[in-house]
Amino acid sequence: MVDHALEKLVLELYHENKWRDILDLQNFKDAFEKHRLLWVWPSLEDLDWLKHIISERNVREIVSIGCGSGLLEWLIQKYLGIVVVGVEVDRKWWCSGYSPPLFLKNVHFIDEEDSRFEILPSQAILFCYFNNGSAFLNYVKQYTGRTVIVIGPGEGRGSCTDPVPFDRKFSDLGWKLDAAREIRDTKDYIAVYVR
Ligand SMILES: C[S@@+](CC[C@H](N)C(=O)[O-])C[C@H]1O[C@@H](n2cnc3c(N)ncnc32)[C@H](O)[C@@H]1O
Repeated sequence: MVDHALEKLVLELYHENKWRDILDLQNFKDAFEKHRLLWVWPSLEDLDWLKHIISERNVREIVSIGCGSGLLEWLIQKYLGIVVVGVEVDRKWWCSGYSPPLFLKNVHFIDEEDSRFEILPSQAILFCYFNNGSAFLNYVKQYTGRTVIVIGPGEGRGSCTDPVPFDRKFSDLGWKLDAAREIRDTKDYIAVYVR
């Protein structure tokens, strides 16, 4: 049986609001255990970079599509002091005993019948390791705001997402790359698109 040691530790730190200590776990060796909680473990410098970008653009809220456990979003919320709302599918799974915990309290499950979730133009949208290209296109085509953030693998990282951070789809859809940064030396990138 898997004991999910990392998950237990992160949960303890989360309940104690020790988000900086969670950032310090970035070098934890077991990739499977890490990916259960989040795909990209940011450093303080990465969050600082994002904070700068977000405040320059006057963004007050981020909607994270496919937020998974919401741990990244909770860390962003803590460091940036802004609201992050999650969007996911399949509440049953995320509330089951098999899934990772949900760290973000504000998650909309868009596949529920009574879901009336709407992304406002004042909100930025975030895709971190999103893996559903057709859903991505729908979200971006419906979005009327000005900032899209993508986190995912760059060349040579060996994982695949849809979209990837430097996806040609963005220019085809009329978006311009505004800023980008490698997350530590992971070959994962964060890219910010504007229009
Ligand atoms: C690889 S996981 C990444 C999770 C998280 N962002 C992370 O970085 O750890 C992709 C997530 O996208 C979610 N997803 C897939 N299709 C979706 C859709 N149409 N709307 C919202 N979320 C979706 C999946 O349920 C899954 O949790």
